[in-house]
Amino acid sequence: MKASRLAVAICSLLFALTATAQTPPAATLTENPVFQKNCAKCHGKTGEGRHFAGPSLVSEKTTSTSADELRDIITNGKHHMPKFAGKLTPEEINTLVQQITASKK
Ligand code: HEC
Repeated sequence: MKASRLAVAICSLLFALTATAQTPPAATLTENPVFQKNCAKCHGKTGEGRHFAGPSLVSEKTTSTSADELRDIITNGKHHMPKFAGKLTPEEINTLVQQITASKK
């Protein structure tokens, strides 16, 4: 009994470690730790935007924006949107772009 409980504990610990150690391409924008860490403070934890901060990233307008343009906005910034070149890797930015366009309904 004790041994199996220990095994479960080790498994969940390993899972937690591998889940946080790398930044895996998460399934959706809001599950992506890169988004929660860098973008949620302005665009909201749900990506729906916050008043006076950032616009919704799940709106028709944003999800219909071309991948190239989204990548440009995130990399180089736009008005009050800070640039993330140098803060995020091109791969991390690509993942964000894919997740934004993927949430198009
Ligand atoms: C300091 C607040 C702030 C942070 C942090 C921030 N943004 Fe923004 N973002 C904005 C604002 C403000 C705009 C609107 C810019 C404009 O068009 O005037 C914007 C616009 C955008 C747009 C364009 C939306 C559209 O439809 O035109 C995208 C895409 C975007 N942000 C993605 C991100 C991502 C991804 C991150 C995290 C890597 C992020 N933002 C972090 C404030 C922020």
